[in-house]
Amino acid sequence: MDPYCSICWDADKVKLLDQRRLPGEEIYLEITDYREVIEAIRTLAIRGAPAIGVAAAMGAALGALALETDNPEEFLSRFHDICQEIAQARPTAVNLFWALERVENAVRVMAGQPVKALKDRLVTEAQVMLKEDETICRRMARAGQILIHDGHRVLTHCNTGALATGGYGTALGVLRAAWEAGKRFSVWVDETRPLLQGARLTTWELGKMGIPYTLIPDGAAAALMAQGRVDLAIVGADRIAANGDVANKIGTYSVAVLARYHGIPFYVAAPLSTFDFNIPDGSHIPVEERAGEEVTVIRGMEVAPPGAPALNLAFDVTPHDLISGIITEKGIALPPYTSSIKALRRAAE
Ligand code: MRU
Repeated sequence: MDPYCSICWDADKVKLLDQRRLPGEEIYLEITDYREVIEAIRTLAIRGAPAIGVAAAMGAALGALALETDNPEEFLSRFHDICQEIAQARPTAVNLFWALERVENAVRVMAGQPVKALKDRLVTEAQVMLKEDETICRRMARAGQILIHDGHRVLTHCNTGALATGGYGTALGVLRAAWEAGKRFSVWVDETRPLLQGARLTTWELGKMGIPYTLIPDGAAAALMAQGRVDLAIVGADRIAANGDVANKIGTYSVAVLARYHGIPFYVAAPLSTFDFNIPDGSHIPVEERAGEEVTVIRGMEVAPPGAPALNLAFDVTPHDLISGIITEKGIALPPYTSSIKALRRAAE
């Protein structure tokens, strides 16, 4: 168990660790209204694809609890509207839509049962999804830790730890499992501009795990690779297309290109809930564009002239041919991805 959790359900409330305030303050928000969950997702109080999925399910459960009707049909229709509203929170991480589809299906098959039973089911389902996500992360970590060796200097981007999931983490989970298996290595942490998930969150989590790390500006990765000081790169994902193209935090694509140029393996770790089997390639992934102020203002301080135009794409898409392997809870998918991803999907059914 971690000494902190990204999100949990506590007596008809959602408790989540406000990641906007880390690493300075560890504050848990207590939320009873689904609209506040939407706001928490939108403003990155909770973030990371798997954690967003769990938050969406818990938000949906809160919304359901507040519905005042005894008519199951009316309940289902109004619950659908709530799910549609939650789906607007952020566009890229497919876990959000995956989670909403799952909770809607969970109650749709109960049509005809009393509203109280539907509400109970939604509350239970959200908690099951949290627990499942941690179990899946641990499985994925076990599968991936064989790639990490003593003495490795591993580079990672953004934050993919317990904070970004229901527990344990994806790419950071792989490192954690390797560490727990007794391997000794160190981590280069990209600061991950503009919102500094690497500097604020990944360092915080690695510190708690006792894994040695060094924080670097995003632009330093190339020089370190050229100097032969990076042995492997590993990142998470927000959405993976059927051909293995991966959307992840802006800057991931640069890391992948650099890794290929320098002959360094580049791995992605993500649960099957992050795969979008319905889209053939990464060109179909909606990339979130956030406010320019997130680039021009850092933690309240203006770092550009007032009104400077700034483009803030929150994600980029790494083409599948730059990826050495995709670590999942069902094993590591290798190129050619169209067939290995199909096999993973079959294994999951
Ligand atoms: O904007 P964020 O912080 O939600 O972006 C998160 C990432 O890009 C992560 O790398 C991804 O969600 C994987 S988290 C296990």
